[in-house]
Amino acid sequence: QAYNERESLYIALGYAKDFFVKNLETEEGKAIGLSYFKERGLRPETIQKFDLGYALDKWDSLLQAAKQSGHSEEILLKAGLVLQKEGEPERIYDRFRGRVTFTIHNLGGKPIGFGARILTNDKKQPKYINSPETEVYHKSDVLYGIFQAKKSIREKDNCYLVEGYTDVLSLHQAGIENVVASSGTSLTENQIKLIKRFTDNITVLYDGDAAGIKASLRGIDMILEGGLSVKAVVFPNGEDPDSYARKVGPSAFSEYLRTKAQDFIAFQIGLYKEEIAEDPIKRAELVRHVIGSLSKIPDPINRTVFVSQSAKLLEIEEAVIQTEVNKILLKGE
Ligand code: CTP
Ligand code: MN
Ligand code: MN
Ligand code: MN
Ligand code: MN
Repeated sequence: QAYNERESLYIALGYAKDFFVKNLETEEGKAIGLSYFKERGLRPETIQKFDLGYALDKWDSLLQAAKQSGHSEEILLKAGLVLQKEGEPERIYDRFRGRVTFTIHNLGGKPIGFGARILTNDKKQPKYINSPETEVYHKSDVLYGIFQAKKSIREKDNCYLVEGYTDVLSLHQAGIENVVASSGTSLTENQIKLIKRFTDNITVLYDGDAAGIKASLRGIDMILEGGLSVKAVVFPNGEDPDSYARKVGPSAFSEYLRTKAQDFIAFQIGLYKEEIAEDPIKRAELVRHVIGSLSKIPDPINRTVFVSQSAKLLEIEEAVIQTEVNKILLKGE
């Protein structure tokens, strides 16, 4: 039968997913891949639900098997599964080797790409290798875990947003299924639109480090701009949702999310809390940040509600904040 190119890519990516998953049952896969997942506390049902797998530590195990099954080198290249080096002789080899694999699914559950993690702490190699942009995988349009999360996002009317693959997996194991990952890239408008198909509420759970806080601030403004409501939870320094969930256990973790989720104003005030006690310049900086975020809210009624709440929390005249927000809005027109 004749397939068009997109269909052939989906079929090759599905083949690769099955190949990586089955590798977990080989001697090498059991000894290296499966034991890595076990060490991280990942359970068999999670491994299955998310199509976690293992790429053998060989140059061309996937390439050879896929060719045997009738997939062309051209399609494997276009799917981002193999790489080609120019020269004599020309070399073509597997992109993912000797790493555990995280299958990235589209909204309908089809594999469209992979993330692959090294098993050691070798700092000379990248921790993750990811699929490149392809005809069926546009990184900026995709959220890791959306297929497994969409039903729960709708039911809970909230979406937890995390940074990494393992954060998504750990939250599922803690009984929280309404979670997706931006996979370390900065959040995009299309990713927010994707979430908005299921809910108008996002809770940002980024890593408890300087990079995570910075990404949260930017993400919050993007989410507000998209017309959604946003909360954020800060984790203790050095912890991410995965490490923290495993450290405190599922019930304490859920309780943490429930009690520590703050709206964007409280979140920003919390970040400045220590500095503003003695430094009026820092206090002014905080006020300007909050005003910047307020000006992103497209709905005038929501905006007014938050202006008045900011005024109370920041102990500044509501009219002053409103005037500053209006100035920004006028400039933008
Ligand atoms: N990431 C990536 N390439 C890297 C580092 C990170 O693509 N070299 C992406 C991955 O999607 C990763 C996410 O950014 O899951 C968050 O990065 P990080 O917090 O460093 O990794 P964790 O997900 O916490 O992974 P682990 O717990 O295995 O260290
Ligand atoms: Mn396209
Ligand atoms: Mn991080
Ligand atoms: Mn982590
Ligand atoms: Mn992390």
